[in-house]
Amino acid sequence: MSGLWCVALGYGRKELIDAAHRQMTELPYYNSFFQSSTPPAIELARILAEVTPPQFNQVFYTGSGSEANDTMLRLVRRYWQLLEQPHRNVIVSRWNGYHGSTVAGASLGGMKPMHEQLGPDGVLPGIVHINQPYWFGEGGDMTPAEFGLARARELEQKIEEIGPERVAAFIGEPVQGAGGLVIPPDTYWPEIQRIVDKYGILFVSDEVICGFGRTGQWFGCEHYGTRPDFLTMAKALSSGYLPIGGLMVSDRVSRVLVEKGGEFFHGFTYSGHPAACAVAVANLEIFRREHIVERVRTDLAPYLATRWRDLAAHPLVGEARCVGLLAAIELVPDKSSRRFFEPRGEVGMKMRETCTRNGLVMRATRDTLFIAPPLVISHAEIDELLSKVVRSLDETTVWARAEGWL
Ligand SMILES: Cc1ncc(COP(=O)(O)O)c(C=O)c1O
Repeated sequence: MSGLWCVALGYGRKELIDAAHRQMTELPYYNSFFQSSTPPAIELARILAEVTPPQFNQVFYTGSGSEANDTMLRLVRRYWQLLEQPHRNVIVSRWNGYHGSTVAGASLGGMKPMHEQLGPDGVLPGIVHINQPYWFGEGGDMTPAEFGLARARELEQKIEEIGPERVAAFIGEPVQGAGGLVIPPDTYWPEIQRIVDKYGILFVSDEVICGFGRTGQWFGCEHYGTRPDFLTMAKALSSGYLPIGGLMVSDRVSRVLVEKGGEFFHGFTYSGHPAACAVAVANLEIFRREHIVERVRTDLAPYLATRWRDLAAHPLVGEARCVGLLAAIELVPDKSSRRFFEPRGEVGMKMRETCTRNGLVMRATRDTLFIAPPLVISHAEIDELLSKVVRSLDETTVWARAEGWL
């Protein structure tokens, strides 16, 4: 799992450790308020403007992905205020999406158990959810292509229901990670882009997992050909060696903020922390020097995909899907229908435990098991990973038969 989708360059990267040490020796901290900054924060901003899509030339730093999404929500509201449309304050998100664990992050996310824990007032006002593009679980009789279009069009229906003049933004992960690695059908994102363009609403790509090469492109939005106005990020930005997040703000938005906005009263003590920025700079330099993203796209992802898709033949597996270095399997009682085990999650948990015992870290969301290996995994390690998946599937099948699940 690359720690938690973050240790993209793997462990033991001395360059990253040295970068932190050097920076902490020279200047461990200074704030980024009052028109101040530090050399590593400036250098990182320069690199981010280069590696992100061309509409992005400004960055706000944060300490995490959740803070990045919080900041985005504030900027979205501010943008429409400055354009004298303060009533445009609704953000549309998706059920089962994940956008973090702060109040805004949990509200933007579509995890019902997290919403319930927010207490009687629940989700923050002005946040609504539409259904996710999870074909295997919810596609019914539709083909993936039909289903992708149908789920995207729920955005249009929601906008019409709320009133187009009230909708501020749409947020989505290119591939939903924590929700169970939901890889949308190919028809989904182009239709979403058509709809956000039609209504002129802001589009936020949450790249906390998909950013920095995970899909085989620098950002998931590039893999799916979308053109976001905000791009939120964290995790692989520093390969997880130190905590740092941020959000890229497109020229469309920053122009309004700069020209009309005056000061935006925002910032965290640790925004642009010099040591974290120095590590992120060193991290992205290695990304470029070792052609990490290109290697994922042209070599590792195709190699994993051919091996991974073979898992679909296993009696316990209903679907084996992958994109880039993200891959999932669905455990089912009957391969001929897309029916789940009832109750859900127990077989998945058993499989997860079995994997751990066999020396493989796999994450489980109900009966969906998934991996996100470091972007520096070797072919031999992919082979080892696959053999451990198969062994764990076989052992889980024996258990499931004995326990009457099959
Ligand atoms: C897509 C996505 N957005 C936001 C977050 C929140 O990031 P953090 O845990 O750094 O606050 C996560 C964390 O896993 C995530 O997967």
